[in-house]
Amino acid sequence: MSAQNFIRRMTAPQITARKGGDPIVCLTAYDAPTAAIVDEFCDLILVGDSLGMVVHGLPSTVGVTLDMMILHGQAVMRAAQKALVVVDLPFGSYEDSVETAFRNASRVMMETGCQAVKIESGSYAAETVSYLVERGIPVMSHVGLRPQSMHVMGGFRARGRKKTVADEIIANAIAAAEAGSFAVVVEGVSEEIADKVTAAIDVPTIGIGASAQCDGQILVTPDMLGQFDRVPKFVKKYGNQREATRQAVANYAEEVKARSFPGSDNLYHFKKSVT
Ligand code: KIV
Repeated sequence: MSAQNFIRRMTAPQITARKGGDPIVCLTAYDAPTAAIVDEFCDLILVGDSLGMVVHGLPSTVGVTLDMMILHGQAVMRAAQKALVVVDLPFGSYEDSVETAFRNASRVMMETGCQAVKIESGSYAAETVSYLVERGIPVMSHVGLRPQSMHVMGGFRARGRKKTVADEIIANAIAAAEAGSFAVVVEGVSEEIADKVTAAIDVPTIGIGASAQCDGQILVTPDMLGQFDRVPKFVKKYGNQREATRQAVANYAEEVKARSFPGSDNLYHFKKSVT
């Protein structure tokens, strides 16, 4: 590879070094055009398994496969130039043994070129994190509301309103950090729990429905762009992409029906010299 082609991206240790520093800006991306835009502003891009719902129309992340994650990870890696790219390990690809986790995580890294993976961390996960990290795979953990466990949790509700659950979330975050995670996503918990987690671990917390005091924030990009009418309470819509798309499609349909599209600007004609 020539020096010209060498892309200098944010690294996992650089993200860890931001603990307590400038807020870490993160968003999800699943395709190349979106990755190219968010890359300009983000420190970290997550190819989240939320793609099951926001791209593929699935009811949850449970139906997402490793092949789907790899395909979207490849698209994002072709466009992202500077952010750290993390790809989610989907449900069923890492829970049963550390060997399975390594086989699938290494496949994701080798086939996409991404720099790290994310796993949802229950109490069993610390062993997996240290096994992967010792073998060269940076891991971001995910505690609190863990969408892959929605059938056990009984849905997508915020977690940690009972003390026992709060203690369990904090313990999971500490175990994940001590096992070597370079950052921990904290999703759908009370602000008080999020702040306790941020104070308790020495790697950055990345909040989503958590607290403004987390070391960074992440949102699902189609949610924050306003692609959907219904979004969780913690999402702020920074755009209204659904209405913008609807309006553009309606204008197109009207012009096709009126034969005003294509107009002369959109048509090819013989060049003057052609006989
Ligand atoms: O899958 C995803 O997009 C995520 C974020 C919500 C953190 O895990």
